[in-house]
Amino acid sequence: MEISSLTKLFLIFIFLSSFQLCKASGEVINPFTKLRFDGKNGEFRILQVADMHYGDGKTTPCKNVLPQQMSSCSDLNTTDFIFRLINAEKPHLIVFTGDNIFGFDATDPVKSMEAAFAPAISSNIPWAAVLGNHDQQSTLSREGVMKHIVGMKSTLSQLNPPDVPDIDGFGNYNLEVHGIEGSELTNKSVLNLYFLDSGDYSTVPSIPGYGWIKPSQQFWFQRTSRKLKKTYMHTSNAMKAPAPGLA
Ligand SMILES: *[C@@H]1O[C@H](CO)[C@@H](O)[C@H](O)[C@H]1NC(C)=O
Ligand SMILES: *[C@@H]1O[C@H](CO)[C@@H](O)[C@H](O)[C@H]1NC(C)=O
Repeated sequence: MEISSLTKLFLIFIFLSSFQLCKASGEVINPFTKLRFDGKNGEFRILQVADMHYGDGKTTPCKNVLPQQMSSCSDLNTTDFIFRLINAEKPHLIVFTGDNIFGFDATDPVKSMEAAFAPAISSNIPWAAVLGNHDQQSTLSREGVMKHIVGMKSTLSQLNPPDVPDIDGFGNYNLEVHGIEGSELTNKSVLNLYFLDSGDYSTVPSIPGYGWIKPSQQFWFQRTSRKLKKTYMHTSNAMKAPAPGLA
């Protein structure tokens, strides 16, 4: 991991809901079946974690730390840091936005993933992940890495939309965040989250560098967004405006 850029890499988004229309009913809801804004304070907190670059754990040293810190710094410090963030922020959802593992350092990518996502899993907080350019550089393909992730405990990650078999990439999906339990918006998505795989590297020789989001993904995003807007604005108890989206 790269200690020097931790503050840049770890962003905490706190969404203050303007949808607090009534108090929560006090009913316990299962966050794994439905994400929703918190009835206590109207918030939905997302902890975004990028570029953990997890390798082999204790034996993988840190990058960009002071020379005197090298001998005592490893992937375990990343784990420790994420636990501290979780305890401090108590997120409703954790989103891992790529380079979760660093394939070149990961002898066993499955083991690296287990360790990388362990703080979310052991905290019993729903989580979602997309891939970076480094996740598949070990023994698993990009598809293999994403397939493993979707089978892990407490994740809401998906491989791809089931109705679009030929979409580019692995890890294109969306999640709906519903209104406060017991409010008028309890059955409606008031925040739409979109996860898109921007690939690893360009496969077009005349364009060097990283990959990008392809038209197949753009069409899926536009179609999904239109569908959600229609569902929630043209039904009984219609929402007056479309819900914000975050990609
Ligand atoms: C990494 O963790 C070890 C063990 O807790 C600690 O001694 C060390 O100071 C940490 N290093 C950094 C750079 O945070
Ligand atoms: C939400 O859906 C449930 C289950 O279908 C229903 O009982 C309830 O009345 C709905 N609430 C609102 C505000 O639409």
